[in-house]
Amino acid sequence: MKKVIEIKNLIKHYGNFLALDNLSFDVYEREILGLLGPNGSGKTTTINTILSLLNYDSGKVKVFGEEITSSSYDIKSKIGVIFQDVAVFDELNVYDNIDYFCGLYIKDKKLRKKYILEAIELVGLKEFTNFYPKQLSGGLLRRLNIACGIAHKPSLIFLDEPTVAVDPQSRNNILEGIRKLNQMGATIIYTTHYMEEVEQLCNRIIIMDKGRIISEGSKEELKKIVDVHEKVVVESSEINQKAIKYLESLDSVECVNYSNNELYVTYNKDDNNLANLIEYFKKEKINFTRIYSELPTLNDVFLHLTGKELRD
Ligand SMILES: Nc1ncnc2c1ncn2[C@@H]1O[C@H](COP(=O)(O)OP(=O)(O)OP(=O)(O)O)[C@@H](O)[C@H]1O
Ligand SMILES: [Mg+2]
Repeated sequence: MKKVIEIKNLIKHYGNFLALDNLSFDVYEREILGLLGPNGSGKTTTINTILSLLNYDSGKVKVFGEEITSSSYDIKSKIGVIFQDVAVFDELNVYDNIDYFCGLYIKDKKLRKKYILEAIELVGLKEFTNFYPKQLSGGLLRRLNIACGIAHKPSLIFLDEPTVAVDPQSRNNILEGIRKLNQMGATIIYTTHYMEEVEQLCNRIIIMDKGRIISEGSKEELKKIVDVHEKVVVESSEINQKAIKYLESLDSVECVNYSNNELYVTYNKDDNNLANLIEYFKKEKINFTRIYSELPTLNDVFLHLTGKELRD
């Protein structure tokens, strides 16, 4: 597979603070790569150094086989960036905002109009074409921000937390739009601290913490890192010491935790766990209000690797 980005031993300090600690990874053509990490883990710094918006101390960064400099116009025209902070012009309406950004790369007016309308369609802003940014909700504004970044049809797209503080409808619209861009051939780098999003969207995931890559792989590969195969959650006020002791004695049970009328049982193998537990409660006449089973999440992977929650 062709490498679109190559990063080797990247080190970046802000003053004395080490923001990127010997980062190395590649991005392959047509993948959706998720950069997942908590606040301050270095996701934005990584993107900005790749784009050569930030200087770095040492290491190598190549995009489309070359190092980007301030005059790499050819390479820059193939890149689309959706920054974490919305950056649009308040004085321009939706159409004219997209026109401005697209116009930086696409000089042909007729072609540009086609591209702008396609971008408006992709992010679902058709009804709002003549609206000004101040008239848009947070979610619609984020969609405009995306349209501005992708209208010129870049083949490499960076999206830095594009769904922070958006309503569920806009979030779905944004994720769907990213999928479409990828299906049309774009390589996507997507940063977020929402693990559900990378699980839904990304072919490959890099988990970052403190400027370092702590793990990398498909979601299935990452989940294999944790020993937990299944978590069963039970809401009940009737769990007694006998039940806890019994569960702890089972070979398939990794851990039992009971507090605030919630019982968590983690299992290290799939073994009809939920059905067996319900059967046991029935036999012991223990009532419960809710019982459900969960598969491990990327948060469990993060917790396993760092001892802390992804969203703390
Ligand atoms: N210009 C700067 N000067 C000093 N420190 C900075 C600067 N920019 C970022 N940092 C620090 O570097 C670390 C990484 O920041 P960065 O913005 O790359 O993280 P992030 O993963 O994008 O976080 P978030 O999820 O909050 O966007 C943080 O601790 C941040 O405080
Ligand atoms: Mg950031």
